[in-house]
Amino acid sequence: MAEHDMSDKEKQYFFNTPQQSLPFFLKGSNSYDWGMKNRLARIFNPDSGKTVMLAFDHGYFQGPTTGLERVDITINPLVPYADALMCTRGILRSVIDPSVQNSVVMRASGGPSILKDLSNEQIAVNVEDALRMNVSAMAVQVFVGGACETQTINNMTRLIDKCNRYGMPVLGVTAVGTELTRDARYIGLAVRILAELGAAVIKTYFVPEFETVVASCPVPVVIAGGKKLPELDALRMARNAIDAGAAGVDMGRNIFQSDAPIAMIKAVRKVVHENMSAEHAFEFYQELKNS
Ligand code: R5P
Repeated sequence: MAEHDMSDKEKQYFFNTPQQSLPFFLKGSNSYDWGMKNRLARIFNPDSGKTVMLAFDHGYFQGPTTGLERVDITINPLVPYADALMCTRGILRSVIDPSVQNSVVMRASGGPSILKDLSNEQIAVNVEDALRMNVSAMAVQVFVGGACETQTINNMTRLIDKCNRYGMPVLGVTAVGTELTRDARYIGLAVRILAELGAAVIKTYFVPEFETVVASCPVPVVIAGGKKLPELDALRMARNAIDAGAAGVDMGRNIFQSDAPIAMIKAVRKVVHENMSAEHAFEFYQELKNS
């Protein structure tokens, strides 16, 4: 078939230019396979190295959470401003337009409702179904120090073994029971355990001295938003987390329960991707809200 290459142009082999072998942009992620890296690069913006995930998976244990009673009405308008959508497969299939360009981080553990011991979770989605939905990562909650600590760690490690066959990253979520103190010592312990056991990304709560949590975690850490705060406080939390080395936010209630959710997610993006101060991002939020 060589005769089909009829071009008169001289072939160029660039003998004096070695092929570049660039490091992957995400912390601790250089040794993964191409598919795993590509999925991670759909969650984290390769230019900023960070992500704004929109979390609306709360219904998997607490039903129609305030702001999520009608995901089609309240969440779909926010979708264009999120890098990744964190949700359950039920909501993804029933409500989210399959033509969206966002990556999907799928909630993959569950079981107990708010009426029971929340730590008694099991794996709730298999890898094949996640692949069918073109998911970019699967999220599993681990209750370090909780009643079902070993079971939930086992949920995560078994899922990682299966996900690694397909280049599917697992996002480990540290759950904090009411009986545990949310401080850097505890969060640092939980985050490090999840990373040691193979999670590609960790989601946890922001705490004072968060830089020690990030520094001792070998893979990217993102923060959950937690309960609804005044918008300026939520933006300050995001700013402080990014300054401490976080690779982004996975924020739900502080966006969809805001008085102006679109303005809020746009302001969060300014902090995470454009390094804007919390105060300037709050002004930006107010301008959008009042316009
Ligand atoms: C809890 O239901 C989920 O793990 C949420 O995805 C996570 O808590 C982030 O949502 P929020 O910012 O509302 O805490």
